[in-house]
Amino acid sequence: MTSSEIEWPVKTREFHDHHTDSTIWNDFKFRDDDIIISTYAKSGTTWTQQIVSQLLFDGAAGVPAAEMSPWVDMRIPPKEVKLPELEKQTHRRFLKTHLPVDAIVFSPKAKYIYIARDGRDVAWSFYNHHANANEAYYDAVNNSPGRVGPPFERPADNAVDYFRGWLENDGHPYWPFWVNIRTWWEIRDLPNVLLLHFADMKADMPGAIRKIAEFLEIPIKEDKWPAILEHCSFEYMKANAEPTVPLNGALWDGGAQTFIHKGTNGRWKDMLTEEDNRRYEAKAIEELGPECAEWLAYGNQGRKP
Ligand code: A3P
Repeated sequence: MTSSEIEWPVKTREFHDHHTDSTIWNDFKFRDDDIIISTYAKSGTTWTQQIVSQLLFDGAAGVPAAEMSPWVDMRIPPKEVKLPELEKQTHRRFLKTHLPVDAIVFSPKAKYIYIARDGRDVAWSFYNHHANANEAYYDAVNNSPGRVGPPFERPADNAVDYFRGWLENDGHPYWPFWVNIRTWWEIRDLPNVLLLHFADMKADMPGAIRKIAEFLEIPIKEDKWPAILEHCSFEYMKANAEPTVPLNGALWDGGAQTFIHKGTNGRWKDMLTEEDNRRYEAKAIEELGPECAEWLAYGNQGRKP
């Protein structure tokens, strides 16, 4: 199929909240070799940014991946500041988004890597992220000019209640979850989209890195492979978190290591009730259909043959 025969995604709406301004993409000037790393959030974004930075910079240590790879639709700093900085970049750009497909400007030439994670793992990760947000975080999202909608609230005081609120109010107090997964799943067969799952990356990180390299058409220098693997490991990223985490972790109590928290799935297993799991799983099927819901829960590794 040629590019002109493909039905490329078209933006149909804007999305704004305390964190987000989707209009920033409207003024973004794509380059053909841009790489966009996309997730709902708390799904391996930073990990994938680190992987891509390691592929682009041949396993170099200390690459400031977070600074090089900003979250484009984050409304702070505003587009007047962010976009000129991106124009100045001379290396192959790798950017981050948390938008669903219907709220982004989609380039047929750029390459998109989308990573999904079971919603229960996402909520557990978000709880840690949110419960450790410091005053500077609340001040930035609530008081910077341009906020649309209600202020960003403090979290519930435990992960189970946090999960319940997140599920019942679709992503609350962050953004909607199901539309994000569904819209990226729907475009998974486009030639410039690579869909990955956090559980598959955990089960076989070397395989995931090679898949990403192939998709991005970046040849791996085999003598750099051990360094690439080391720098993308959880242990290394936890111990050297600052260059890979937004604002070097300044917005969290405990700093960058709070962001690279545990890197495990299933921490909810002994904490949610059967009823919680039944509600989550029923909602996933209702919102995503059975095939996508199963993939979201297990990735490809865990799928039944
Ligand atoms: P946990 O909070 O469950 O530990 P994001 O970057 O999308 O916000 O995702 C953050 C999650 O990815 C955190 O999950 C973090 O620990 C995990 N993570 C970051 N680097 C990782 C790595 N190298 N291996 C495994 N998990 C990693």
